[in-house]
Amino acid sequence: MCRSSAWLAALLVFSSSSLAGTPWQSLGAPLTDREISSWDIDVRPDGQGLPPGKGSVEEGQAIYDAQCASCHGTFGESNDYIALTGGIGTLTTSSPQRTVASKLDYATTLWDYINRAMPFPHSKSLSVDEVYAVTAYVLNLGEILPMDATLDEKSLPLVEMPNRKGYTQAHGFMTADGKPDVQAKACMQDCAAEVTVTSELPAGFTEEMYGDIRTHFRALAGMTTLQATAAKPLAETVRKSPAELAATHGCLTCHGVDQAIVGPAFKAIAERYADTPDAEALLAAKVRAGGSGVWGSAMMPAQTGIPAADLAEVLAWLLAGAHTK
Ligand code: HEC
Ligand code: HEC
Repeated sequence: MCRSSAWLAALLVFSSSSLAGTPWQSLGAPLTDREISSWDIDVRPDGQGLPPGKGSVEEGQAIYDAQCASCHGTFGESNDYIALTGGIGTLTTSSPQRTVASKLDYATTLWDYINRAMPFPHSKSLSVDEVYAVTAYVLNLGEILPMDATLDEKSLPLVEMPNRKGYTQAHGFMTADGKPDVQAKACMQDCAAEVTVTSELPAGFTEEMYGDIRTHFRALAGMTTLQATAAKPLAETVRKSPAELAATHGCLTCHGVDQAIVGPAFKAIAERYADTPDAEALLAAKVRAGGSGVWGSAMMPAQTGIPAADLAEVLAWLLAGAHTK
């Protein structure tokens, strides 16, 4: 993984939407080497990437009973949730039962999955040895390993899964409309020299959900580095439009620009106060205090979270007609 590509910023690019999106720049902080290594944990079928360690079926049972059985069943058989055992040999029948025992082609995938994702929701809480142990126990439940087995980085890749040659990607896990999350074909000729990985969210979405992500303490995936101080405050890097501010501060959940939702349309408010002196100050007080009765019986809760400068900007824009272009 190369460092220059390792910007959280690359993951978040806002498109120009009806809310006049500005492309977001310099969002996030450069990842530290420690953060990169904590993400760079994939394990290959041949065992490449497996850290040294070991664990036995017996040790795994204690971990499993305490931390896994509640969701996956005492014997991995959970029918109403996600079974980890059973179904071996059923994949090509009319009622295939896909479990890690029946569907995986390599045991290393099981280790990798548990290591990165389980136990839900406390992923990454198991030590390396514990992951070997619980992997051994899950394989024992599936009758793939004997009771006295111990796994380490050398023996795990040698485990022969029952479905070694039958792995398919033609379906999704659970109900993903038949589509797996990720499907890639290796490009063998005329390949793009450079690809840009982006993803898009509606303007304001991330902040509404998470606030300023640079101030987050990254506790996921073993990452504990807070680099917020290295990043510039949002206001310095991105000048938001008033419409984006209104979205960010939650106003647009109740007010449409053109249409009433719970509260009146912004354009209707502009018309109503077109000739009112000091409308901006009047409305600022109203928004801060909340209230009902001017437009109907619906109530606006007191809007205490929006900074005064942002509110002034939103109201000035609103009173000028709430134009989004
Ligand atoms: C609170 C419930 C919960 C607990 C506890 C839990 N899991 Fe899971 N497990 C899940 C869910 C939910 C999924 C499916 C996740 C997904 O698809 O994103 C899952 C998926 C899995 C899978 C992949 C199943 C498949 O068919 O691909 C394995 C393997 C697994 N868990 C092992 C474990 C192990 C080992 C533990 C204990 C260390 C554990 N789980 C603890 C909920 C749980
Ligand atoms: C939970 C819904 C809700 C949210 C969130 C909300 N409003 Fe309102 N807003 C209303 C309702 C309902 C009214 C009508 C109140 C009335 O009739 O007195 C209103 C009225 C207004 C008015 C007109 C006040 C008047 O007296 O004529 C303005 C201006 C306004 N909102 C701006 C905002 C701004 C700016 C925000 C974001 C900071 C916001 N609102 C967030 C529901 C909401």
